[in-house]
Amino acid sequence: MPLPTTYRKLVARKLSRNFRDAAEIIEVPMPTPAPNEILVKNLFAGVNASDVNISAGVYFTNPTLPFDLGVEAAGEVVAVGAEVTALKVGDHVITTGLGGGYREYQTAPASLVIPVPQASAELLAVSISGLTASMTLEIAGEMKSGETVLITGAAGGAGQFAVQLAKQAGNHVIGITSTDAKAALLKRLGCDRAINYKREDLNAVLQAEYPNGIDLIYENIGGEVFDICMANIAKRGRCVVSGFISEYLTGAVSVTAPRIYHTLLWKSATLRGFLFSDYVSQIPEHMGKMLSAFGAGTIQAVVDPTEFRGVESIVNAVEYMHAGKNAGKVVVRF
Ligand SMILES: NC(=O)c1ccc[n+]([C@@H]2O[C@H](COP(=O)([O-])OP(=O)(O)OC[C@H]3O[C@@H](n4cnc5c(N)ncnc54)[C@H](OP(=O)(O)O)[C@@H]3O)[C@@H](O)[C@H]2O)c1
Repeated sequence: MPLPTTYRKLVARKLSRNFRDAAEIIEVPMPTPAPNEILVKNLFAGVNASDVNISAGVYFTNPTLPFDLGVEAAGEVVAVGAEVTALKVGDHVITTGLGGGYREYQTAPASLVIPVPQASAELLAVSISGLTASMTLEIAGEMKSGETVLITGAAGGAGQFAVQLAKQAGNHVIGITSTDAKAALLKRLGCDRAINYKREDLNAVLQAEYPNGIDLIYENIGGEVFDICMANIAKRGRCVVSGFISEYLTGAVSVTAPRIYHTLLWKSATLRGFLFSDYVSQIPEHMGKMLSAFGAGTIQAVVDPTEFRGVESIVNAVEYMHAGKNAGKVVVRF
């Protein structure tokens, strides 16, 4: 079937943490792939907590408006450039470039895409959110066995994989979330203790049930949750800041409190930030590991069942996640 002459994509028209305000759908001509590129028809796009950081321009030193939104996508190759030999029309791939997700079609360098047997929402979730969890725990968290590992945002896109990986490594795993339904999901994924921090007093639970503290904290939420986590870190404990979604819509919140080194020094604890994109050379190893584990059925991928379809559904999908409504990875279908 001939390709359409135009397609639609979501761009940021202005810089804003309010994704709805920043985003606009535009229709543009269908591109022809350069000799080293492929043209991909996106079938699935991953929704990420950081979409609102991207729309606010946080990821760019000098953002030029308008710019394309979205990150990872899974789709089908519909045209290949003259020099591309490794891929052909009909192949399925995952793409990870900034701006490649929230659009019906995209061109991408053939050397930068990940061939997969069949594009699916689950595979897309494993490849990026699973990759994040694997790299965060192993590289920054220096994950071991026989420790107590606490994961915040545990029922979300990245957190669900962190729970499974930490459990499979032989740890006692605590997952934190905001509803009983998501806490039940965490138990199914392998959490030894699932805490609904909206219903239970997180600090009281950790003090009563984990008097020796938490060895490894995988922190995604920030704010008071971060403070409570740090107050309950074990001696020689490690905390990895992978995100702080509670401040993504507001921007940085100022607080007056003792400096964090008071906690770090007296507990010989470590606090570390981690962005997987700063560890590019280790991505293939972790991506390969996660895709194989998914293929072998040892890692499962939970995709949120709410259907978001088409470019016009993306803003709703981002807001749905930021309202804390998702269980598992939020995916938009095209
Ligand atoms: N460092 C990296 O390289 C990297 C890469 C990808 C993602 N991340 C981080 O991983 C975290 C999860 O990202 P994701 O894309 O997978 O999202 P997600 O976990 O699928 O969804 C976000 C979850 O955060 C919680 N939440 C949402 N808004 C909140 C708020 N205002 N206050 C407190 N909690 C809120 C909700 O979980 P509950 O209802 O269960 O609390 C929600 O389900 C984010 O912090 C993100 O920045 C980091």
